[in-house]
Formats: sequence, structure tokens, C-alpha cells
Amino acid sequence: MKFLKNIIPNYLLNIGRKVLTVKRIFFIYFYDYKRFCKYSPVISGYNNRDKLEAKIIERYHSIEKGLTMPDFRFNFGIPVLTSLTDNCIEYNEKYGESTQLKHALSVIFEYEKKHIDSKVPLNQDTIKVLNNLKNKIKNREEFPLGQKLVFKTDYFSEVNSNFSAFSNSRKSLRNYLEDQEVDLNLITNAIEIAKNAPSACNRQSVRVYVFSDKEQIKKILKIQGGNRGFGHLTNKLIIITSDLSVWGFARERNQTFIDGGIFAMNLLYGLHFQQIGACILNCSLSPENDVKLRSLGFIRESENFISMISCGILPEKFMQAASKRHEVSEILTIIK
Ligand SMILES: Cc1cc2nc3c(=O)[nH]c(=O)nc-3n(C[C@H](O)[C@H](O)[C@H](O)COP(=O)(O)O)c2cc1C
Repeated sequence: MKFLKNIIPNYLLNIGRKVLTVKRIFFIYFYDYKRFCKYSPVISGYNNRDKLEAKIIERYHSIEKGLTMPDFRFNFGIPVLTSLTDNCIEYNEKYGESTQLKHALSVIFEYEKKHIDSKVPLNQDTIKVLNNLKNKIKNREEFPLGQKLVFKTDYFSEVNSNFSAFSNSRKSLRNYLEDQEVDLNLITNAIEIAKNAPSACNRQSVRVYVFSDKEQIKKILKIQGGNRGFGHLTNKLIIITSDLSVWGFARERNQTFIDGGIFAMNLLYGLHFQQIGACILNCSLSPENDVKLRSLGFIRESENFISMISCGILPEKFMQAASKRHEVSEILTIIK
């Protein structure tokens, strides 16, 4: 090898190294590609317990969010409710009970109760779907209501408590006072806190953009797509990006997302500490939407979108989605 190095000109060696690196990057991405195809439900469908449970969570969360929207729409989400009940029946038949299945059922029956209590007739198809569910899953308990009416003073009452209480008190909130400004200084303070986030070799790839202009926010949120029913109330929109330029090894291909995610969580805590209502929004963009968002021209080409955060001043009281967590015993394995 040393002999070859001595006789091959440097420029050729560099070309050779680059070719090998490109090949390596291709191999690494192909490795990810194979794993994603094999293990995510995108191709296989929801063919095991974990996958079906995740689908159930995704669908009941959509109903949970609908139940907490500032302008509640009766009979919302019928297609989601229908597939959610099908998923619950399938799960119950194949795998029996689980904490998340129980919670899914509680969300479905909360949806029904909301209509009964408000004396608004349920859609005929929904009634059929609910009857079918009640026939198929008999062992139902009385469930407590998951979505809560919360007072702003209570919501922020733990901001100076110990970290456990503080962390427990932060929630994604989707209701803001449209005509009240979030002070930009408070957002800057929150970013100051978020900067404490660790990053791989302290490379700090994260960049933050804050938008105030209503029209611009509307354009961006239209591309984001996951803010129906509350996005229009956003007073400040934060976009978190992470720059690819700082990652020097092919194996660090996902580091933008890891460091960006850690920063995003810290920023959510920072915003909560500053008593700003916030909801993190995904940037799981298709390439087409990624290009669309880039073409608005505010980020550098080398930056990846990590997430957005809608921010606003909370009303005196608002609904809070339950977002039931897994039990520790369900996610923890201690290796001895
Ligand atoms: C990366 C990420 C993307 C999210 N995207 C959305 C979104 O597009 N729309 C939305 O309403 N909530 C979104 N959420 C909020 C989740 O629904 C919420 O964090 C989850 O249900 C847990 O609830 P909590 O934040 O109140 O504890 C997102 C959360 C994360 C972490």
C-alpha cells in the first residue's frame, strides 16, 4: 500500500479516496434503506403487535387532538374513528388487552360521550361502528376521561418546581389567544436555555428561525400539514434546522436529526419555563414538500428541517390531550 502511495500522484489518490467514500456512503444509506423496508410497517403493513399498537396510538391521538381543539367540530374524524375501531378489534382478537388498547377505547367512548352530553346526534355510520366495537370487545371497564380542561395558572404552577414536576407539567398545547403577542425576548430566553443541549463533539449544528408574520406562518404551516384546527392561532412559529456541514463522517448521517431532536426538547422546556404555550410540529417532509419549504428561501441549503414549534399565549382555560405514555416496564430492559 505504501509502495502504491509513493508511485501514484496525490491528485489520483484523492480521487480514489473520494470514489471509495461515495461507495461507502451509498452502502451505508442502502443499509438504512434495507432496515427501514424490513422493519417499518410501510411495506409489511401492521403485521405484529408493536406495529398495530403504534397504528392504534397514532389514530387515537388524532381523535384526542380533535377532542381538545379550540373550535370543536362535532362528528369530526369519522374515517379515522372507523379505522381505529377496526384496529382495536383486530388487536383485541390477536393480542388481547394492553394499556394502549384500553386508552384507545377510552378515547373512542369519550368521543361518544361528548356527543351524548352535548345532545348532538352521532353520525349514523359512527353509531354502527361503535355498536360493532361494543359487540366485539365486551370486557370494557368504565374509563376516566382522558382529555382535561386545564386552567392556565395551574398549567404553569410547576415552572419553578423540581425538575420532575416541571417536566411532568409540560404538554403540547394547541390553543392560543390569536390577538396576543408572544414577547420575542422570552423566545430568545428560551433559546438561551435550549443551547444547554448537548451535541455530538459539541458541534452545535442547530439553527433556529422565528417567524412573526401571519402570512408567512400560514404559508409554512400549510406545507407542514399537521396543525389543522389550531395552526391559524399561532403567534410565533419556530423552525429548528440542523446543518449537514458539520458532520465529517458518513456514519454521522443521522446526527442532524439526533442533535436537532435533543435541542428541540430542550427548547420546549425553555418555552415552558418562559410560560409560552407551545406545540412541536413534525418536519417529516416528502422531498417535494422539503423543496417547497426550502424555496421560501430562509434557510441555508445545507440545513435539514428538524421540527417546528407553534407558540402562543394561552387562554385562561383550555383542553389538554392525554397522550398516554407507555409504562416504564413496557420500555425498560435492564441488562445484567
Ligand atoms: C417530532 C414531533 C412531531 C410532532 N408533530 C406534531 C404535529 O405535526 N402536530 C401536532 O399536533 N402535534 C405534533 N407533535 C406533538 C405530539 O402529538 C405530542 O408530543 C405527543 O402526543 C405527546 O404529548 P405531549 O407533548 O403533550 O406530552 C409532535 C411531537 C414530536 C416530538
